[in-house]
Amino acid sequence: MEEHRRPYVTISAAATIDGKIATKSGDSAISSRRDLVRVHRLRAAHDAVLVGAGTVLADDPLLTVRYARGCNPARVVLDPAGRTPSGSRLLLTCGHIRTILVVTGRADARDRRRLEGAGATVLVEEGDSIRLGPLLGRLYGLGVQTLLVEGGGRTIWGFVTEGIFDEMVLTVSPHIAGGGGTSLAGGEGFARVTDGPGLKLLSARRQGDEVVLHYARSGGGGDPDSAGDPGQ
Ligand SMILES: NC(=O)c1ccc[n+]([C@@H]2O[C@H](COP(=O)([O-])OP(=O)(O)OC[C@H]3O[C@@H](n4cnc5c(N)ncnc54)[C@H](OP(=O)(O)O)[C@@H]3O)[C@@H](O)[C@H]2O)c1
Repeated sequence: MEEHRRPYVTISAAATIDGKIATKSGDSAISSRRDLVRVHRLRAAHDAVLVGAGTVLADDPLLTVRYARGCNPARVVLDPAGRTPSGSRLLLTCGHIRTILVVTGRADARDRRRLEGAGATVLVEEGDSIRLGPLLGRLYGLGVQTLLVEGGGRTIWGFVTEGIFDEMVLTVSPHIAGGGGTSLAGGEGFARVTDGPGLKLLSARRQGDEVVLHYARSGGGGDPDSAGDPGQ
């Protein structure tokens, strides 16, 4: 296997008109039931779905396929400090749904044992941070050819700023969150809009009062042949 191989990466999120994926109090129930069905179809078309530890702590998500037909993808959490709670729905279900927790040296041995004891696969990244490029290579080696990145903002920023994604599917819902809250892409931000990745609009589809925008990254990498159906 060539070292640079990585999964085909699609970023998926639902945002308010003002670009927030959660309000200041953490309310992230932004899109409609109809959109949830679409997202679950999208999950079923991917080998794995990935979120950050912040989303696990805020939402306690299952990340399974429940509102559509299809198989559950594996679940991957960027959890450098090993903070995923033992009582989280992810850990309680990892006996029958493949669950990969990515930790660093910030997770102590006791937490690593706790996570493994629950049935999760624990990938340890050297040092205190997670380098997304090498991590994706490891995931590819574990059979993940298509990866759906569902957030939250800090996690999406990592993929955006490193330019490691191929497509983005964004639902814009008819709500306004106002000040505070979580932006679609957090982090330190770009100085100029042209510093960010170029995106090419593939489709814009009306879904009731929502709009589902589907972009490809201009000059994107990955293996287009292994792209999941974006569920449109
Ligand atoms: N509307 C939507 O579509 C949607 C989807 C998902 C989530 N959300 C919302 O988004 C909010 C959470 O977003 P968030 O930005 O606070 O958190 P997040 O992105 O879910 O998680 C951030 C945490 O994950 C770890 N992490 C992420 N990227 C990393 C990287 N490249 N290297 C190392 N560690 C990394 C870090 O953990 P440590 O802190 O342990 O270092 C970081 O603090 C929640 O309110 C949730 O409801 C909305």
